[in-house]
Amino acid sequence: MGSGSKVRPKILGFVCNWCCYGGADLCGVSRFQYPPYIRLIRVMCSARVDMAHVFLALSTGQDGVFIGGCHLNDCHYITNGNYDAFSMVSICNKILGHIGVNPDRLRLEWVSAGEGIRFANIMNEFGAQIAKLGPLGQSEGIDEQVLKFRLEAAAKLVPYIKLVQTERMSVPVRTEEEYHKFFTSEEFNRLFEETIAEKLAIGQIIALLQKGPLATPEISEALGLTPSEVSRFLISSSRQKFVRYDEGLKRYALA
Ligand code: FES
Repeated sequence: MGSGSKVRPKILGFVCNWCCYGGADLCGVSRFQYPPYIRLIRVMCSARVDMAHVFLALSTGQDGVFIGGCHLNDCHYITNGNYDAFSMVSICNKILGHIGVNPDRLRLEWVSAGEGIRFANIMNEFGAQIAKLGPLGQSEGIDEQVLKFRLEAAAKLVPYIKLVQTERMSVPVRTEEEYHKFFTSEEFNRLFEETIAEKLAIGQIIALLQKGPLATPEISEALGLTPSEVSRFLISSSRQKFVRYDEGLKRYALA
């Protein structure tokens, strides 16, 4: 085992057929070693990895997710799909941080078919990093079941997030510089807060209320939000007729 750690995390890797999978193959043929607990799934292009796959992997026991594609501008499809993977991972990392999951648990890298040693180095480094973080929830200081619930709620929002990605967060020029610039910008942060953050919170509140009526402090504790944030989201949800206040129970319930 390359990482030298006794902790054996579970890591799922998605690798594109034309480059990163070739790099993994060369890594094996060259007898470079990397942790055996990293399991790979071959996809035709890194763009084929859906945000829902990431949330599903993390909510069903994986401690880390790796996505490997061709180097930027070397994607084998005319749409340059690895830029789509770039967008998806940037938004996904932001969501993970927002719901309390360490974004380092999701990693995107470019590896060509001739870079067996690069593949091994990345796998060893990522394996050691996830082993250090420990099982999902440990480094976050949040109960695994709570994180699972938050990930499942985020997964339900994926169709909406994709719509926002297409309509409000598409970068017009496909260059690495432009993508870095946009996804580290204040504009991206603002758009995220305006379009995704509130919907994420409301989605989680609705998922919580499906189990039964709750008071604001109970929702606040379950979601790690301040009572004033919860109140704001509850008012918004009430206006949209998703939830209602039950005067008898003195609690919020689904409308
Ligand atoms: Fe490798 Fe698109 S074919 S990233």
